[in-house]
Amino acid sequence: MTDMQDMTGGRELVMVSNRLPVDRVVADDGSTAWRTSPGGLVTAVEPIVEQLGCVWVGWAGNADERIDPFEIGSMRLAPVELSGEDVELYYEGFSNGTLWPLYHDVIAQPQYHREWWDRYQQVNRRFAERVAQEAADDAIVWVHDYQLQLVPAMLRELRPDLTIAFFLHIPFPPSRLFAQLPWRKRIVEGLLGADVIGFQQVTDAVAFRTTAERFTRVPALGNTIVVPATADRSSRTVLAQEFPISIDVEAFAAVAERPEVLRRAQEIREELGNPRTLMLGVDRLDYTKGIRHRLKAYSELLADGEIDASDIVFVQVATPSRERVEAYRQLRDEVEVTVGRINGEHGAIGRAPLVYLHRAYTRDEMVALYLAADVLLVTPLRDGMNLVAKEYAACRADERGVLVLSEFAGAADELRDALLVNPHDIEGLKAAIVRAAHMPGEEQRRRMRSLRRAVYDNDVAHWAAGYLGAVQAVAESRRVGPSGEWTEPIQVGAAFVPRSIDDRVRRLAARPSLIVATDFDGTLAPIVSRPQDARILPRAAQALDVLSASPGTGVALLTGRSLAGLAETGLRSDGWIVSGSHGSELVGLDRGADGAGGGPAEGELSEDEAQRLGRLTRRFERMLGGEAGVRLERKPFGIAVHAREVPDRQQADELLAAAVVLGTAEGMHVREGKEVREFSVRASDKGSVLRRIRDALPPGPVLFLGDDVTDEDVFATLGPDDLGIKVGAGETAASERVPDAETAAAVLALLAELRTGIVIGSE
Ligand code: ADP
Ligand code: G6P
Repeated sequence: MTDMQDMTGGRELVMVSNRLPVDRVVADDGSTAWRTSPGGLVTAVEPIVEQLGCVWVGWAGNADERIDPFEIGSMRLAPVELSGEDVELYYEGFSNGTLWPLYHDVIAQPQYHREWWDRYQQVNRRFAERVAQEAADDAIVWVHDYQLQLVPAMLRELRPDLTIAFFLHIPFPPSRLFAQLPWRKRIVEGLLGADVIGFQQVTDAVAFRTTAERFTRVPALGNTIVVPATADRSSRTVLAQEFPISIDVEAFAAVAERPEVLRRAQEIREELGNPRTLMLGVDRLDYTKGIRHRLKAYSELLADGEIDASDIVFVQVATPSRERVEAYRQLRDEVEVTVGRINGEHGAIGRAPLVYLHRAYTRDEMVALYLAADVLLVTPLRDGMNLVAKEYAACRADERGVLVLSEFAGAADELRDALLVNPHDIEGLKAAIVRAAHMPGEEQRRRMRSLRRAVYDNDVAHWAAGYLGAVQAVAESRRVGPSGEWTEPIQVGAAFVPRSIDDRVRRLAARPSLIVATDFDGTLAPIVSRPQDARILPRAAQALDVLSASPGTGVALLTGRSLAGLAETGLRSDGWIVSGSHGSELVGLDRGADGAGGGPAEGELSEDEAQRLGRLTRRFERMLGGEAGVRLERKPFGIAVHAREVPDRQQADELLAAAVVLGTAEGMHVREGKEVREFSVRASDKGSVLRRIRDALPPGPVLFLGDDVTDEDVFATLGPDDLGIKVGAGETAASERVPDAETAAAVLALLAELRTGIVIGSE
């Protein structure tokens, strides 16, 4: 895994989750030991904090146990005590009897009890108070999951100096379901105490922003929610965005290479009688995981004779979970009866078609199981992500094995080459199982290669860099106020410029000639749902006008929009150089040597280009024109397909993938943006247009601000004298980062003021 030391900017990191990463287990003989806690939260987060070091506040897994803080490696664990009643009302009750089913599409009926809610508040307060005691000045506190949603606001009250991040590991429900919760407003207010709220999927982030707008009446601008000022607090912004979680891919791959683990995989197959097909399921025993549906499909296939009990074995590992909660107790009973029935009906002496293992295993044993399995069935009815699916792909360096994956698992967004199934459709599930069991080696290889690419592309280090990068940007923008008090992290309309950027802007301001270049959407103008509604922030507009009128300063706007699309926003850009359609259009460069002012950069479309573009446009209109939420944007040299408004993310991905196939067939250059694919008859990018602008203007450093993937082409061209600033979260080649468009405007205002003496206010 890549080095993560600088991800917190030298600040202390405090993790807060209901469970510590280890549970204290007491054996029958009274001896005690520590064991890794169950679930995906710990699998994902532990490798990060092992590197970074942290204080971790959480419960040790047993009621009424008082345990002193202790250390494991670079982590200092600070146990919070829960009484038997806390466990019953807060953990089993409100967390797992109310929130868990409500947040998982009400697969089980959520129960609403006031005494559960009261205890949830009390325990959340206890966690907040404990963190307030433990955290050093200026620390970053990272609160995890649905059990602790009130902690961010409680903690902000107690310790305004902290930067507070929250990550929800499970789905966030659609607003119409969340509306059932009698305490819905309080939960949203609790979460809005954080500076950054991370979600697994874009649909979760969208649902939360909609819910926050609906129940607390706070406006959302793109990914940012604006919490208005109160009598004693200024307004502030909260970033609510998706950051899909992952695993330490290299660590799993390394275990999978070890000779003893490979031997153990072989041994497992032998112990099971060397079946032709070994199918595996690995889940906490939870009703969201679709175990009942899976067993039903399997038992019907055996009964119909579609698969032969003599050459297939299905191993279902079901980790014990929340065993005192009624829905879990029922599930366990039902699963165990079904297992007995299937083996009774289809087994023979010394041979069981279904092996059910109700216990936890070591990492090595889990990996050996993954290596032994020809097919992995991951078929949850709803799952925030599902790391088991990613672990399987990470382990299969042999490019063998088939993943059958529910389309309702967050992982299905990334693992597109799994056999995707709707687990409610038992016939579909049966067909996928049969297909997986008979998949030819070549197809297995092709699919597994793609799955592995996806997990390697977004491993846990990548996830942590994106998430902690956004958190750190907030932390950097905090400042001590005039009388030594901590100010709110970002003030809307008067955003603070992070200290490291402040220094570099001061140096740029003193240079005789300077180019100030910037992207438009998401950088100068907050993202909105309808592109024509985007508006440049007044402060940014004023700063750029002041800069462009000042001697030795060139102002350039580099946008992916067409110039016509930019004009729709009412932008006034007199005196600026403006490049549209990612560099295919360029106006205003009349001061320069190449005289390319006014009109398209490279002349008109040739006949062939016009024909190809016309053909593709007609195809898109036929194929995508009627799809809800799809918008086609015509540009002088191409066409863009926008899918941001498509209600279903999977469908959006499929439509965009289909568009890419058609566009590539027409020989178009394809560019990927956030929920958009752009097709252009000419290769051009913002990086090359900035080079043209630099060549035409007097030599000098460049300040460039951008937020999207297409802006990375510019960041990649910048030298040590230049300053690249990424706006918002995500991987970047830029050397600095600010959290949002308001702070980007503050950077421009600071530069304008230093260069001209004209003060640009926040309005
Ligand atoms: P959830 O967080 O809902 O439990 P995930 O699939 O995201 O689901 O994560 C489950 C994690 O628990 C994975 O890292 C998996 O390897 C681990 N795990 C599941 N079952 C067992 C088991 N029986 N023994 C040990 N680890 C397990
Ligand atoms: C899921 C949740 C975690 C939880 C884990 C195990 O992964 O997202 O927050 O810790 O399940 O559940 P448990 O109730 O045993 O902590």
